[in-house]
Amino acid sequence: MLPIDLRSDTVTKPSPEMRRAMAEAEVGDDVFGDDPTVNALEERAAELLGKEAGLFVASGTMGNLVSQMAHLARGQEIIAGRQNHLVIDEAAGHAVVVGASVRSLAEKPDGTVDLAEVADAFRDPSDPHEPITGLVAMENTHAHSMGQPVSVEFTARLAAVAHEHGVPLHVDGARFFDAVVALGVRPAALAGPADSVTFCLSKGLACPVGSVVVGSRNFIWRARRARKLLGGGMRQVGVLAAAGLVALRDGPAGMIERLAEDHANARRLAEGLADVAGIVSPGDIAQPTPGRLDPGRVRTNFVVFRVERNRAAFLEALATRGVLMVAYPHGQVRAVTHYGISPADVDATIAATREALAETARLGTAAATVGAATVAAH
Ligand SMILES: Cc1ncc(COP(=O)(O)O)c(C=O)c1O
Repeated sequence: MLPIDLRSDTVTKPSPEMRRAMAEAEVGDDVFGDDPTVNALEERAAELLGKEAGLFVASGTMGNLVSQMAHLARGQEIIAGRQNHLVIDEAAGHAVVVGASVRSLAEKPDGTVDLAEVADAFRDPSDPHEPITGLVAMENTHAHSMGQPVSVEFTARLAAVAHEHGVPLHVDGARFFDAVVALGVRPAALAGPADSVTFCLSKGLACPVGSVVVGSRNFIWRARRARKLLGGGMRQVGVLAAAGLVALRDGPAGMIERLAEDHANARRLAEGLADVAGIVSPGDIAQPTPGRLDPGRVRTNFVVFRVERNRAAFLEALATRGVLMVAYPHGQVRAVTHYGISPADVDATIAATREALAETARLGTAAATVGAATVAAH
């Protein structure tokens, strides 16, 4: 039997419809702008998010990187949440490749940052000691707050602060459509205040590869040059873009509406886990108050919690029962629902968790030495 793999929504496999579209895709050399399927995907993404143009890139990390390169000059600074993926989980690409420093601010449990602190974080350009602030960035959904969707209103207020200081706002929307579905807003409304947005096709939208960056025509031209610099100019890449076009279809033919099922499954999982002895709240910003896991915190497809006993032993005991979850920072465990996970899988996961915790308890302190390895989860 296949494992119930809740490590990430990146483990999703393309749908039969995607595989068909990939096999039949019309292709051309995309570096010459000749790939009609890539062009169609970029136009569709731009149209959906209400921007002038789009750019297909290999990954969310590359999307964030080319966006930073397009917005910033070397030596400039980014204001962003302390736990944003582009701050802590992209191998310091902002420093290594872009040449930018980061002024990071603590996030709140709803995934936002304090706007007064943002305003305060801008540098004084007349002081030669200081780097010049060139970008404000945020994440939506915000992963480390248990995947909270960040509202249109907050995005607009953050954009206003950025724009008052003459800098753009970039949204790392790796799970942008999860936020759209959870908030019940139009993609263009949520993207509206931002100058650039990147979203992943390869997560809950279930495509095998790729992300799209959207913004103004000018910005996308600079991002395209940055993509070439990084070696990300691909050729007959319509075979990959074809899956993205299927994912972005309206209604049940696409993958956007379907995300609501992942959110319902995540809530069902949290409700079940909350009653399991040995499962407690995740701590940190995901649910800062210690105690029972609060299923009300689950707004999208992330469930984050802690176990009272040895985490590594728990994850191993769970894996031997065919359920995979991952270690997440701050001693947490993360489970992510996605395409291919059913309510029955969720119920089986709750039962397996109960058994794995009981086994971990029986092993007692001996378990403390088992399976020290942790896997980074994204
Ligand atoms: C919030 C966020 N941004 C960016 C990325 C990077 O995406 P990729 O793995 O496609 O590079 C991830 C990946 O998990 C993510 O969670």
